[in-house]
Amino acid sequence: MKLSSGYTIPDIGYGTFKTPDGEICVNAVREAIAAGYTHIDTAAVYHNEVSVGEGIRQSGKPREELFVTSKVWNTERGYDKTLRACEKTLKDLGMDYLDLYLIHWPANKLQFGDKAASINVDTWRAMERLADEKMVRSIGLSNFYPQHMEPVLATANIPPTVDQIEFHPGLLQKDTLVICRKNNIVVEAWSPLGRGHLLENPDIADIAGRRGRSASQIILRWVIQNNVLPLVKSVHADRIRENFNVFDFELTPEEMSTIAALPDARFGSNPDTAEF
Ligand SMILES: NC(=O)c1ccc[n+]([C@@H]2O[C@H](COP(=O)([O-])OP(=O)(O)OC[C@H]3O[C@@H](n4cnc5c(N)ncnc54)[C@H](OP(=O)(O)O)[C@@H]3O)[C@@H](O)[C@H]2O)c1
Repeated sequence: MKLSSGYTIPDIGYGTFKTPDGEICVNAVREAIAAGYTHIDTAAVYHNEVSVGEGIRQSGKPREELFVTSKVWNTERGYDKTLRACEKTLKDLGMDYLDLYLIHWPANKLQFGDKAASINVDTWRAMERLADEKMVRSIGLSNFYPQHMEPVLATANIPPTVDQIEFHPGLLQKDTLVICRKNNIVVEAWSPLGRGHLLENPDIADIAGRRGRSASQIILRWVIQNNVLPLVKSVHADRIRENFNVFDFELTPEEMSTIAALPDARFGSNPDTAEF
């Protein structure tokens, strides 16, 4: 996919949330790159950036052939702290630039009242400076819904390229998709498999059985056919490969509709009520 920054982003990403720091993470990242992923998603708050960087170096793949994303954590919001947070992330990863840097969660009204919008705008100013200084190639948002995004869009000098949100069957995020499409913002899906819970769904299992595919491949394909970019995590080599192998088949419109009609589900926090 093409980003509004002019850079391209590989259309599936490998996630590292809850991947324990150390050998498990190093091996999993190396395994993912061997399987074909060129897009790795991490965050300061995952406390595994050192191992992600090490896995990347051990893969032997040149840095410029990879797309690496990280995120500024909620305790580091605001102009100065965001600049310092990015420096630390680069140091921990052992890299001199990031492909994509995201504000991990918006400051929300529940916690910050009327100051929420200005905190997000200040943090965005720092993101723009990081892009100007070429420490990051593209900048974006995560967990921003229209009400969080609007003040940033209204004041940005560099528009956000990406919004990374919880998206999967049962959480279609229609309003956020509309504002993102209108503003040329690529939508990334976190927890596309519902942290694994959706793999047990009987309708998905039924489609998987008929198509000779795994439940995870059916869900990831559904995300991709919604023009959303899935970020998927596993620490098991066989699953890592299985999840990447989703570009040689297509779901029918009927299969797409069946999956879109699955009951409401949310496995992570709601950005409006998050208290962290
Ligand atoms: N921006 C944000 O706020 C935010 C929030 C959450 C996540 N994310 C990003 O999105 C990525 C993906 O989300 P996620 O990790 O929460 O959930 P996910 O990718 O939907 O699901 C991961 C879970 O599913 C299991 N799994 C994966 N592939 C499988 C397969 N083929 N068969 C059976 N089980 C499978 C994994 O277990 P094993 O590892 O044991 O295989 C793990 O328990 C994260 O890693 C992170 O990079 C971002």
